[in-house]
Amino acid sequence: MKNAVALALAAVFLTGQAVYAAEPQQERQQTMKGVGEAMGTLAKTIKGEIEYDATAVANAFKKMNEASRNFADKFPEGSETGHETEASPKIWSDRPGFEKAVQEFEADTDSAVKAAPKDIDEFKAAFGRVAENCKTCHETYRVKKE
Ligand code: HEC
Repeated sequence: MKNAVALALAAVFLTGQAVYAAEPQQERQQTMKGVGEAMGTLAKTIKGEIEYDATAVANAFKKMNEASRNFADKFPEGSETGHETEASPKIWSDRPGFEKAVQEFEADTDSAVKAAPKDIDEFKAAFGRVAENCKTCHETYRVKKE
């Protein structure tokens, strides 16, 4: 009996998740959450809080690069509001500007992956260029809700 209840709850939960994930607002927030997590590793690395790990760095840059691909497609018409989106209306009023910002993020993360920095000094330049994208895009195309 206990198992049956647990199973029923699991089914409800999983179905809820599936519907959830289909929403573009949720999808792009999930994508950015992953970018944020990758950034956490890189930020700790740059601050020297964790030992330099070339594989972890490469994986973080790869994760960001994957996130950048088709990122603009996650902002279709009709997804301007809802799910507490922080997407700025500028994404829809200045589509070419937004798409350019996404392309730059893709290009810079791609370069960082290819640079495959072996030590902290090589890492610094790649990190700086990638991190600049977060700031530039968020300043214009994200409205942070408190
Ligand atoms: C091309 C634009 C763009 C770039 C580049 C970008 N972001 Fe974002 N980011 C957004 C937008 C737009 C949102 C809001 C999405 C929404 O709420 O619908 C967002 C949201 C986020 C969030 C909140 C996710 C959540 O939980 O809802 C985090 C964390 C984040 N970005 C981290 C980063 C980091 C770190 C970088 C750089 C490595 C970065 N972003 C680069 C556009 C960008």
